[in-house]
Amino acid sequence: MKGPIGIFDSGYGGLTVMKSIVQYLPDYDYIYIGDNARTPYGNRSFETVYHYTWEAVKWLFQKGCPLVILACNTASAKALRTIQQQNLPVDFPTNRVLGVIRPTAEVMDQFTHNRKIGILATRGTVQSESYILEIKKLFPSIEIFQQACPLLVPLIENNELDNHGTDFFIKKYIHDLLQQDPGIDTILLACTHYPVLLKKITEYTPIDIQIVSQGEIVAESLTAYLKRHPEMEGRISRNSTHEFYTTDSTADFNEHAPAFFGSPVLSQHVII
Ligand code: DGL
Repeated sequence: MKGPIGIFDSGYGGLTVMKSIVQYLPDYDYIYIGDNARTPYGNRSFETVYHYTWEAVKWLFQKGCPLVILACNTASAKALRTIQQQNLPVDFPTNRVLGVIRPTAEVMDQFTHNRKIGILATRGTVQSESYILEIKKLFPSIEIFQQACPLLVPLIENNELDNHGTDFFIKKYIHDLLQQDPGIDTILLACTHYPVLLKKITEYTPIDIQIVSQGEIVAESLTAYLKRHPEMEGRISRNSTHEFYTTDSTADFNEHAPAFFGSPVLSQHVII
């Protein structure tokens, strides 16, 4: 029995990744779930993020998804390894869960010229040091500077995109990052919520610094994964359908999601 690709995020952010995935791979069916009732995950403990993420992944498996993408850096940093190494082999040995950190780390050398990369992310992603570990493993000479941005996801989830307070914190976080090394030539937006602030982030970033979002990177990596794994590709249904679920208000989700996904969204409510 074939099923859709599941895409998970703590809230709206994963829609920026799903938008790119759908552009690259339009034929497949997709189910998105945003855990808006419990967002943000960025300041929560490892145990809590793991627990919430595994609940959402199990729900997507029950909906028939053979493959789930954690389109959330915080969940990828704090829950992916446990799910891949402990849960899947026991409970769902033929299903797969992929994250967004490894595919992003794999291409970072393509962006930086002077091998100095700055990372803007949630506190949880920064504290996990997952990007430092993954990038250093592949490219030992790249220097990585991290800046936690704990207020950005709460501001975005509350739709405060055009607010002076949001501008203040964007400026502050970019300033604090560049204080660590003014030579940084590439800034990675290592949170799937941040692309919705790209215009403002670009405005407050020196013009010679390249800003990298993850959507296309993850979409390209998924395309390559499905080519390498025909046994998984053959289990994914192809009717170009998109279903959206939220653990909170569907009216709010339908109103705010298009800013992330780029087109109208009709969501359903779910308790997980
Ligand atoms: N989109 C999530 C990420 O990429 C946001 C996490 C949060 O809920 O704080 O990290």
